[in-house]
Amino acid sequence: MQSTLEIVSRIAKGDSTVLITGESGVGKELMARAIHDQSVRATRPFVAVNCGALTETLLESELFGHAKGSFTGADKDRPGLFEAAIGGILFLDEIGEVPPGMQVKLLRALQEREVRRVGENRFRPTDVRIVAATNRNLTDEIAAGRFRQDLYYRLRVIELHVPPLRERHEDILPLAMLFLNKLAGNRECPITGFTQDALDLLLRYNWPGNVRELQSAVEHAVTMCRDGLIDYSDLPGELRAMLLKPAPVVVDDIRPLEEVERDYIQGVLLAVGGNKVLAAKKLNIGIATLYRKIRRNNHHAFCQSEVKCLEPANKIS
Ligand SMILES: Nc1ncnc2c1ncn2[C@@H]1O[C@H](COP(=O)(O)OP(=O)(O)OP(=O)(O)O)[C@@H](O)[C@H]1O
Ligand SMILES: [Mg+2]
Repeated sequence: MQSTLEIVSRIAKGDSTVLITGESGVGKELMARAIHDQSVRATRPFVAVNCGALTETLLESELFGHAKGSFTGADKDRPGLFEAAIGGILFLDEIGEVPPGMQVKLLRALQEREVRRVGENRFRPTDVRIVAATNRNLTDEIAAGRFRQDLYYRLRVIELHVPPLRERHEDILPLAMLFLNKLAGNRECPITGFTQDALDLLLRYNWPGNVRELQSAVEHAVTMCRDGLIDYSDLPGELRAMLLKPAPVVVDDIRPLEEVERDYIQGVLLAVGGNKVLAAKKLNIGIATLYRKIRRNNHHAFCQSEVKCLEPANKIS
């Protein structure tokens, strides 16, 4: 994160077009806003548009504006977002979703730094810095014929790739604490942090929804938490499911449950150097239950060895 933030500061000092790439929820929009806030354009507007949410016609009129009467419902002249962002930054989110016809018009606007409102003949100059973002792989999109290569080069003067959260483990705990501090402040009983088990789980989970998912996991945990520390049981089910091992493959070696349990308890006792208190804790059972199981198992093992010893004799008789 530190290196990404340093890059953001350097990018903010320039005025080139930026393409921010990365999976959903990594913080692309946040980076775009940080570029704006640290740039000379900070006192001018930051205008964001989700290019994936609009049809081609709507997107054109949204970005470039329209003249009165240019289509049904256009009851007055309206400037577009390029004009609204003059002096500032226009953030073109989900740029990979822009329909092909609009890609040509966008390329022209970026190259000539001027826009033409729908239904007008004249071009208006626009001084805006463009920051675009996508979670698609635009080179794949170009190869598939869905994205124009010339527009890609025009946008990717500087590329800022924000890595997925699973590739920056060092950010997980500081971000979790940041979200916790933001949320826990509003509570009657303050939450000061996470138990070790909860932290282990946060670090082991692979965060397919990235920072957005971490943020909502912390929010979930804050709601569930009953005392001053968030435990793993307060975290959402998807995370806790990580603790469940995949079911072992059983083909024909089906053994009685008691026998499997006995062997497993023996294995755990060996792993913890015979420390029964620790073994009970790891097995998540009470110490009395562990003693009872050991006693029963010893008795069972004793009976079994008797049976084995008796077998040959039985055969002889
Ligand atoms: N470094 C960070 N510090 C604090 N909050 C962050 C950070 N990165 C992301 N977030 C938060 O995570 C959420 C998702 O971030 P953002 O909307 O910027 O992601 P995105 O990459 O634009 O996602 P999408 O591709 O789905 O639009 C936001 O609530 C944002 O505030
Ligand atoms: Mg976004």
